[in-house]
Amino acid sequence: MSLLAFTLRRVAPVASRLSQTRFMSNKSLTVNFITEDDELIAVKAPVGENIMRIAHNNYIDLEGACDCSLACSTCHVILPQKYYDMLEEPSEEENDMLDLAFGLTDTSRLGCQIIMRPELDGIICKIPSATRNIS
Ligand code: FES
Repeated sequence: MSLLAFTLRRVAPVASRLSQTRFMSNKSLTVNFITEDDELIAVKAPVGENIMRIAHNNYIDLEGACDCSLACSTCHVILPQKYYDMLEEPSEEENDMLDLAFGLTDTSRLGCQIIMRPELDGIICKIPSATRNIS
């Protein structure tokens, strides 16, 4: 086997994986936040990031007192039914924290538990007018 053929056999699979990874991380989705003041703010977000971190990365005022450890309800957001229905059922731990959220609705979720994926492109997250921080 020539040196060139050997090199191509070793490098090609790695290069292929790298290009797929780059594609995934560059995939940019839109997240729409409706603030407490009813201002609509649209931001771009990568696949795999959660709503709370997306808010923080874009200086949007959504708390996250426990840093995604399911020990608070300060990252509470309210979704339109369409997007709520696209998510998996909340875990028991998330439901326990949601029960403590101020202004809980039938389509409430914890922002740190919503992980962006392509189907959620354009999601709308209403930030409640208040939060209850018990931590
Ligand atoms: Fe505490 Fe989401 S940041 S549960």
